[in-house]
Amino acid sequence: MSSVFSAADSTQLLPAHAGWRAAALSALRERDPLAKTEAVAALHARTLDAARRGDAHWDAARLLDAPADLPGRPDRPEPVEPRSLQRRSMSTPQGRVVLMHALAHIEFNAINLALDAVWRFSGMPDAFYADWLKVAAEEAYHFSLVRQRLADYGHDYGDFPAHNGLWEMCERTCDDVLARMALVPRVLEARGLDASPPIRARLTQAGDRESAAILDIILRDEVGHVRIGNHWFRFLCDQRGLDPHAAWLELAARYHAPKMRGPFNVEARRSAGFDEAELDALIAQDAAEK
Ligand SMILES: [Fe+2]
Ligand SMILES: [Fe+2]
Repeated sequence: MSSVFSAADSTQLLPAHAGWRAAALSALRERDPLAKTEAVAALHARTLDAARRGDAHWDAARLLDAPADLPGRPDRPEPVEPRSLQRRSMSTPQGRVVLMHALAHIEFNAINLALDAVWRFSGMPDAFYADWLKVAAEEAYHFSLVRQRLADYGHDYGDFPAHNGLWEMCERTCDDVLARMALVPRVLEARGLDASPPIRARLTQAGDRESAAILDIILRDEVGHVRIGNHWFRFLCDQRGLDPHAAWLELAARYHAPKMRGPFNVEARRSAGFDEAELDALIAQDAAEK
């Protein structure tokens, strides 16, 4: 039996009345990576086109039920404990392949995380959904770039094991959009800003300019993702009459935010909308633990 939410559906097959958030859920359920990236790109293009005509179908008020099979992902990579993943030197081609595979896994999860923000949280302004679908489309692009680079090395996504930490944070924060904004873009994606420069430097040192160029594209876009997270975090704090700094500390403790470790990409974090007090607190916390 086929239904609006069947995993085999492409977004194009959804009835128009299903709305774009339902289409995002359908894309999230898609298990095949290529079909998922194509569904996201098609949905994003469709929403941009319709929005230009002033014709939006986010269906913000509608509560959608969470299906049991989230997220859609292929059978491989085999999920493993983060501790069991080996670190390898980036000076060898094999080490770089393992790194690019880890990056592909992060980007694949990032598509799912962004799609989840679109479908799960009702009652937000249309701009919230448009922002997170744009993020999903950029993550799909990142995933495609990294997957192509893996193919250059004779590999594909799924060839190595990977951990499930990113989706676990998504599940932990599924009951509150404020917690989601606090923990996913402002912690997980912001950590990506910090991680990028040293990895890029090592790739360049190893002569892998093409992979380094992909990291440049990803970093540029990720600043925008964190900025979107900061914007909606502050919007929600405002709406609930919360002080953003106090709310952040409370949420970080309640949801067991991973500790932030330096060195921080202060410039990227600043352009992503972290304010000076937040940056100072981050640096002080890191220094206190050394
Ligand atoms: Fe990304
Ligand atoms: Fe991102």
